[in-house]
Order: sequence, then structure tokens, then C-alpha cells
Amino acid sequence: MTELLPPQQLDHFRTKAATIDHPHELIIDLLRAIQSYYGWVPDQGIELTAATLGVLPVEVEEVATFYDKIFRQPVGKRVIHVCDSICCWSTGSEEIAAHLQQVLGIGFGQTTADGLFTLLPTCCLGACGDAPAMMIGLTTYGPLTRERVDQILAEIRLEEGR
Ligand code: FES
Repeated sequence: MTELLPPQQLDHFRTKAATIDHPHELIIDLLRAIQSYYGWVPDQGIELTAATLGVLPVEVEEVATFYDKIFRQPVGKRVIHVCDSICCWSTGSEEIAAHLQQVLGIGFGQTTADGLFTLLPTCCLGACGDAPAMMIGLTTYGPLTRERVDQILAEIRLEEGR
């Protein structure tokens, strides 16, 4: 299996965990580091996190399943989270979601054939003032229109050389 995180980064977490009273505080950071490096968090990532921090695998799994931005299955290089909470819903998120599904040729929970995009619903992104909104990576976009969605996807494809 490809390594989940470079040894020096694991050492960093191991050392830090040994110096704090509650190494559980580092679970989400280590999971995010694994995801950032490996692309998602397989079962081995849960076990590695537990062993590195000296916590139980079930405690890591609880954190991993609580946060919807931690992926326990392979995802595309760019994950699109489309908000379906009340402000976005009332300002047209259903139309935006339908448009995304149409132009990407996938449904929610699916990944494009080229592995570039995964489409997921999400609850409020905290960008209600810019509803309807979506998040790709760490960037939040809104207010969205079909045209703005097309523009964003085109910019990402350009960045990725697709
Ligand atoms: Fe969509 Fe808050 S309801 S960002």
C-alpha cells in the first residue's frame, strides 16, 4: 500500500501527542493530513492515527464519521459540496444541484470518469449571505448561478490541465 503520510509528519504528530494531556485533540488534524496526502482516509488511516496518537481506533472512527469533510471512500481530486440547507434551498440550490449533475454527468455521491470531481450534498457552509453556495476544497463560492458554476468548473479544469 502507498504510504499514508511521510514518516517525518507522523513523527511530528507522535511527538506532539506525547506532550499534551489530550492527544484526542490531534485526531482531526492527523486525519486531515492523511487525507491531504493520500486523497482519502482508508481503514489503515484510522489505525495509523490511533497508533500514532495513542488513542483507540473507535475514537478515531467516531471523529472521522462525524465530520463530512473526512472521506472514508476514494473521491475525485476536487470534491464539490453543494449546500442544501434552508438559505441555499430558498435561493435556488436545487437548480444549481441539478445543473451540476447535468454538466458533470454524475449524481450525488459519484465521481466523474476522469476522477476530477466528486459531488456531495452538505449542510450549511456558513455562507448564507452568499446563497446559494458550494464549497470546493477550502474555497466557498456564491451566490451561484448556472453561468457562475460553469465558469468555476472551467477555471478548475484549466488549473488541472483537463
Ligand atoms: Fe447554505 Fe448557509 S444555508 S451556506
